[in-house]
Amino acid sequence: MAKVFVTRRLPFPALDELRAAHDVEEWPGDLPPSPEELRAAVAEADGLLSLITDRVDASVLDAAPRLKAIANMAVGTDNIDVEAARERGIPVGNTPDVLTDATADLAFALLLALARRIVPGAEKVRRGEWRTWEPAADLGADLAGATLGIVGWGRIGQAVARRAAGFGMEVVHSSRSSGVPLEELLERADFVSLHTPLTPETRGLVDAGALARMKPTALLVNTARGGVIDQDALRTALHEGTIAGAALDVTDPEPIPADHPLLDAPNLLVVPHVGSATVRTRARMAAMAVENLLAALDGREMPHPVA
Ligand code: DGY
Repeated sequence: MAKVFVTRRLPFPALDELRAAHDVEEWPGDLPPSPEELRAAVAEADGLLSLITDRVDASVLDAAPRLKAIANMAVGTDNIDVEAARERGIPVGNTPDVLTDATADLAFALLLALARRIVPGAEKVRRGEWRTWEPAADLGADLAGATLGIVGWGRIGQAVARRAAGFGMEVVHSSRSSGVPLEELLERADFVSLHTPLTPETRGLVDAGALARMKPTALLVNTARGGVIDQDALRTALHEGTIAGAALDVTDPEPIPADHPLLDAPNLLVVPHVGSATVRTRARMAAMAVENLLAALDGREMPHPVA
């Protein structure tokens, strides 16, 4: 039996399988372990089941001399120093595919919410300010005929494109290997949706210069990683009307403090990183993470290794 540390309580059926096979310790807190707590917790661990809230860097790996496998319950692995794990011969797994539709649905939900001013409308009703049917109030943007610019052309970006086709939108995309240059996309798009992983190349990709290229009527959606946007630049762009609005499922940091200056910006909708948050998707993500751990601890290749 190997020792496995799971960084949060995961109430999903797959965990029973892990518990049956190994000696599993689960972090009891509702909040993630601190870096010090994580280092202490992995001291004896052969396997680690981590979440995006856990920074698994070289110091954690050094504190875990027995570690043989890291299974991240996420498709993104920017919380893990994958290179440092590779140097130590520790395989890292993730959970691709299973969250594609849920995340694409959320990107579209945010896009629609921005376009049709859903949150301001709901707040207006709650404030008792809905006086009558007003011919020229609460007007939003049409999707049919509008251009959606998708930045990043992986599984989720393409799933968003399929949804956009159903709404009669024209789709352009930009990625490292295909599509139009980012500058062209930003200038043409009525809506921009971000679907790139966070890497040194994509950090701050949407900066002041990028925002300045967008139409003043354009709406920006981010369900990728907060660090892809320069948030100071976004705040300025929203205040100055450089773009018309933004909806973020991801921020930097997460959680974004309630008094963070970005949250003062007009036409900004922020939700708490819920792209994959459906009952079925989260259960599947847990199952894939467990499959990865069971395989690696059994000396087999992970079925879902990080490339
Ligand atoms: C991921 O999997 O990377 C998401 O951001 C969290 O579900």
